[in-house]
Amino acid sequence: MSLNIVILAAGQGKRMNSACPKVLHPLAGKPLLRHVIDTARALAPQRIVVVYGHGGEAVPEAISGSELSYVKQEPQLGTGHAVMQAVPEIGPADLTLVLYGDVPLTRAGSLKALVAAATQAKGLGILTVKLPDPAGYGRIVREAGKITRIVEHKDASATERAIDEVNTGIMAIPTARLDDWLKRLSNKNAQGEYYLTDIVAMAVEDGVPVTSAAPADAWETLGVNSKVQLAELERIAQRNTANALLEQGVTLADPARIDVRGLLSCGRDVSIDVNCVFEGEVVLGNDIVIGPNCVLKNVSVRAGTIINAFSHIEDAEIGAHCRIGPYARLRPGAKLDEHVHIGNFVEVKNANVGAGSKANHLAYVGDSDVGSGVNIGAGVITCNYDGVNKSRTVIEDGVFVGSDSTLVAPVTLRAGAYIGAGSTITREAPAGKLTLTRAKQMTIDAWKPPVKKQKPEPKA
Ligand code: UD1
Ligand code: CA
Repeated sequence: MSLNIVILAAGQGKRMNSACPKVLHPLAGKPLLRHVIDTARALAPQRIVVVYGHGGEAVPEAISGSELSYVKQEPQLGTGHAVMQAVPEIGPADLTLVLYGDVPLTRAGSLKALVAAATQAKGLGILTVKLPDPAGYGRIVREAGKITRIVEHKDASATERAIDEVNTGIMAIPTARLDDWLKRLSNKNAQGEYYLTDIVAMAVEDGVPVTSAAPADAWETLGVNSKVQLAELERIAQRNTANALLEQGVTLADPARIDVRGLLSCGRDVSIDVNCVFEGEVVLGNDIVIGPNCVLKNVSVRAGTIINAFSHIEDAEIGAHCRIGPYARLRPGAKLDEHVHIGNFVEVKNANVGAGSKANHLAYVGDSDVGSGVNIGAGVITCNYDGVNKSRTVIEDGVFVGSDSTLVAPVTLRAGAYIGAGSTITREAPAGKLTLTRAKQMTIDAWKPPVKKQKPEPKA
């Protein structure tokens, strides 16, 4: 059995009240349409054709891929008209599966079940659900249990509106019949649109079997028409991710207070406290503890590391058994070896930090190569920027940098150098020696504390 997939994404999404085309709004860190395309890919189709229209070229510009082709639908005259535009682009595969770009959470397994049902029936398959409140949806009309047609809510009689089985919009159609059926569509209906749903009655008329399948969970068929629905689906997606993490053995202080906007992979015995946000690709090794309110974006962390509360980490690599935060900031290009300590209000950017080195309080380490066993005191700043160019600071193994020192790059501190507190280092500090720049301390013996001036007596 071979498959084409057509994704309908031309609709306006007026109720989003946004300049951004609806299918580009992010859900769990990824555009709605991207979710649908990723699911479509899991079915290994011959072709994926996306029908776009509203929002112009923004959609194909934002999402591209070698296996994707785009067709423009303009004006948008209904779901049948949309599929018609895709016909020249779809291949001769046995079945053509129609998905919606604004229905992001359908699981591949449910689609496979639909495709299997259509294949087995040698006919057309519709993904349907029963809803307690079916208002607004197309209703599945059956006679003696067999589907005879779909009637849109606006065209339905009172009896038909009482039907609680609805069309989710997802359909698997025998490709060989598609072109003929679409050509026979008319727009003589309540909305003046070419309804894709009208092909169901045509199939019945032509003696093509029509069957249905149900998704594993009803939320899989929820669509996004407003920010309210987008927020609801975001919570469903996050709950699903949290459940998957829990089932895999991750400890979550509260599964309702974690947001994964990308891919989070965890080793054994990882524990994540509340209100953490994971973006992009985050890889956590074994035995890792993440404190509350941390943000990690494109980060890898090796086994046994603790990241304390309120740390913000982006495009960084953290070695094993490190201690980060609270309130640490690791910016792009921060690479920490094992047993590194980065404490509160320390910022590290584009810097390598060797094993066992520590910067525990209020420091900036940027564009630097820090060796192992280095101690960077409180308030130390690498002055990496002269207003035009960035330069590197090299701090070799075993260096001790006293508090409140400024290291003016380019500069090198040789192995075992000891920098006195408060120094401004502009030239190489030799290995194993104390280097400091400091005005001599003095005490003025004759000094007397200032005395408050007497106000002149008011004249009597
Ligand atoms: C459609 C179905 C209805 C089903 C419901 C499920 C038809 C006629 N009706 O109704 O039976 O219960 O979905 O949500 O198919 N689109 C285009 N071009 C168009 C029109 C729509 O690309 O000209 C796209 C939209 O962007 C959207 C999808 O098709 O992704 C569905 O369109 P929408 O207007 O939401 O269809 P409904 O009227 O809700
Ligand atoms: Ca809709």
